Amino acid sequence: MREIHLPSNSMMLSKDFLYGVATSSFQIEGDRDGRVDCIWDTFCQQAGTIEDGTNGDTACNHIALWREDIEMIDELGVDAYRLSISWPRVINPDGTTNKVGLRFYTNLVDAMVNRGIKVFVTLYHWDLPQYLEDNGGWLNRETAYAFQTYAEVVAKTLGEKVYAYATLNEPFCSAYLGYEVGIHAPGKTGVANGRKAAHHLLLAHGLALQVLNRLCPNSLNGVVLNFSTCHSATDSESDKRAAKMADDYHNQWYLKPLLEGKYPDIIHALAVEDRPDIREGDMAIISQTIDYLGINFYTRTIYKASDSNWFDVVPPTSTELTAMGWEITPDAFTELLVDLHQQYRLPPIYITENGAAMDDEMVEGNVLDDDRTAYFHTHLNAVNNAIEKGVNIRGYFAWSLMDNFEWALGYSKRFGIVYVDYDTLQRTVKQSGRAYAKLVKSRINGYISGTK
Ligand code: FCB
Repeated sequence: MREIHLPSNSMMLSKDFLYGVATSSFQIEGDRDGRVDCIWDTFCQQAGTIEDGTNGDTACNHIALWREDIEMIDELGVDAYRLSISWPRVINPDGTTNKVGLRFYTNLVDAMVNRGIKVFVTLYHWDLPQYLEDNGGWLNRETAYAFQTYAEVVAKTLGEKVYAYATLNEPFCSAYLGYEVGIHAPGKTGVANGRKAAHHLLLAHGLALQVLNRLCPNSLNGVVLNFSTCHSATDSESDKRAAKMADDYHNQWYLKPLLEGKYPDIIHALAVEDRPDIREGDMAIISQTIDYLGINFYTRTIYKASDSNWFDVVPPTSTELTAMGWEITPDAFTELLVDLHQQYRLPPIYITENGAAMDDEMVEGNVLDDDRTAYFHTHLNAVNNAIEKGVNIRGYFAWSLMDNFEWALGYSKRFGIVYVDYDTLQRTVKQSGRAYAKLVKSRINGYISGTK
C-alpha cells in the first residue's frame, strides 16, 4: 500500500497541525422531505444540466446514516470535520425555523464534540433556498440580509460548540459558475449578473461575520475561498497580461475586498453597467477582520490572450490528470500559498479542501486508489514547503470524506477517501483513507503553540 510521507522534521507531523475531512450538505444529505427546495433541486430538474441526469434526493443519505458516518470519521482518527448547514433545512419560506432540521445539526455537533472532534461549520455551500432565488437570489441585495438572519439562527443554536465557522464556501463558484456562465445553479448568465452576485455574497459574508463575532467570539470566524493559480501559456506579454487579468478576475476579486476593502483594478476594465452596485459602507462591512482564511486548491489553470483583449483558458496538455481532467500540480499549490503570503497580510490559513477524483474501482471489497494517495502525498508536501517558507498554515482537510454528488457532474466523479456504493449506500474506506488515517495517527505531541 502506498503511504503519505512528510519530512521527519515537519511541523505537520505534530499534533498542533490539524487534520480533517470535509463534506457539504447538498452533496451528502438526501432527505428532501425534511427541508424546502434549494436552487440545486430546481437546477437538477432541468434537462442537460447534470452530466448523469441525477440529483440530490438521496445522495449519501447522510441524514439517516449520520451516526455511522460520525463513527467512521472517528475511526479515521482525524481532529476535525468540516460540514455545511443546509439553509433550506433551517429556515422556512415564512421565516420560521425548521425545528427538526436544527435539531439534526445540534445532535450532529454534540456527537462530534463528545468524541473530541472539532467542528468546522460552513453556513453556505451553494444550496440557496429556492424561495429566495424566486426573489432574485444573489442578484437581490436583500438576500445578503436574509443570510445574516440565518447566520444568527445557527449561531444561537450551535454557539461556540462550533470550533470554526465559515460564512461562505467559494463565492467564486456561486457567483461565476452560477450567475455568470450558468454551469451551476441557478444557471444564470452574464457579466453583470456574475459581478452583482459576487458583491452580494461578499456583503452577506460581512453581515454574517458581525453576527458570528458577536454571538460566538471564541469560535474562529472566517470564510473559505478557492484558488487556481493562473499561468501564462507563453512568454508573450499579451499572454502574461491575460494570466494576470484572469488572476484578478477569478481569485483576487474575492480576496482583495476581504483583506483590503477594495476590488482589484480589473473592475475598471468592465463596462459601467457590468460593475456591481457598491453602496456606502459595503467595503467596510466586507473587510472586517477574519480569524482565519480557508483555502481550497485543486489545480492550476493556463491562460492566453483572447481576441477581445480578455483571457481564454488553454486546456492542459499534461498527461498527469485526475478524473476531472485537472492537471496534478502540487508545485502550483506551494506557489499559491507563498504568493498570497507575500502579497497580503494573511490571517492564519486552513486548507479547507484539497483532493482528487480518480477512476476508482471496487475489487473484492477494496478500492486500491494509490493514485489518490499519491495526490495527497505530493499536496501535503506542497503545504509543508509553504510552511517552511513562512506561511502560517494551521490545518488541512481532505476533500472529501466520502464519494458524493459532484454538482454538474452528478455521481460520475468520486472524490472520497471512503467509497460509497450508490445502490446499497454502503461505505468502504479506500486505501487512500487508510493512508490518510495512518499519517494522522502517526503524529507526536505538538510543540507549536496555537493562538486564540
Ligand atoms: C469544490 C467544492 C466542493 C467539491 C470540490 C471538488 O469547488 O467546494 O463542493 O465539489 O470542489
